[in-house]
Amino acid sequence: MKIGILGSGTVGQALGRGFTTLGHEVKIGTRKPDDDKLKLWLRETGALASVASPGEAAKFGEIIVLATAWSGTENAIRLADPKNLVGKVVIDVTNPLQATRGGPPTLALGHIDSAGEQVQRWLSRSKVVKAFNTAGNAHMFKPQFPGGPPDMFICGNDDGARKAVAEICTAFGWNVIDLGGIESARYVEPMAMLWIIHGVRSGGWNHAFKLLHK
Ligand SMILES: NC(=O)c1ccc[n+]([C@@H]2O[C@H](COP(=O)([O-])OP(=O)(O)OC[C@H]3O[C@@H](n4cnc5c(N)ncnc54)[C@H](OP(=O)(O)O)[C@@H]3O)[C@@H](O)[C@H]2O)c1
Repeated sequence: MKIGILGSGTVGQALGRGFTTLGHEVKIGTRKPDDDKLKLWLRETGALASVASPGEAAKFGEIIVLATAWSGTENAIRLADPKNLVGKVVIDVTNPLQATRGGPPTLALGHIDSAGEQVQRWLSRSKVVKAFNTAGNAHMFKPQFPGGPPDMFICGNDDGARKAVAEICTAFGWNVIDLGGIESARYVEPMAMLWIIHGVRSGGWNHAFKLLHK
């Protein structure tokens, strides 16, 4: 499969590495294709990986990953051109984080809206599925925890798109919990804040979510 990734930060790189390990072709779309960090990433990931403009990555991908800082997400979508994403599954990894003075970030929107819903409005002809936003980038691919595979919460309006993303999450080593329509992103995005605040307070980033059942 061909994967286009918008955003070249730690998340775009980690997911890109995961997809190439599974044998998929990956093109990261970035405003800075000559950045040294990407030269290193290309050397590490090998022949299945490439770097290009956001528009080229958007055209290339059969599935698109949106891995941008929230403040730059609307611009990244504009640079990618929504026309290049029509009909495609878009995995939205963003959290709508907003910096605060001195403390952990906060959410820029929530309760009656979410980044997932906003992305779906910006990309009204794409199939947006929220996923990977509650995981730390170091554990996105093949997470190893003593309690077994952690849970990945996904949501999106298109049943087929959720099924496709569930299969990807499973291949990445996660147990998938399907939360239905994209409005569930209102509840999944605050979980990322819970993950961040626990990390800040505990001084560690090796934690992941799992629901207990009986
Ligand atoms: N870090 C984590 O462990 C983690 C975990 C779960 C979810 N998330 C979420 O996943 C997303 C990506 O995380 P990250 O840590 O990789 O973020 P990041 O390094 O802060 O930023 C990712 C990319 O956003 C793009 N970007 C920033 N401003 C832009 C603008 N004005 N126009 C266009 N593009 C812009 C940049 O792409 P280019 O410079 O390549 O163009 C940048 O590489 C965020 O929304 C974050 O909240 C992060």
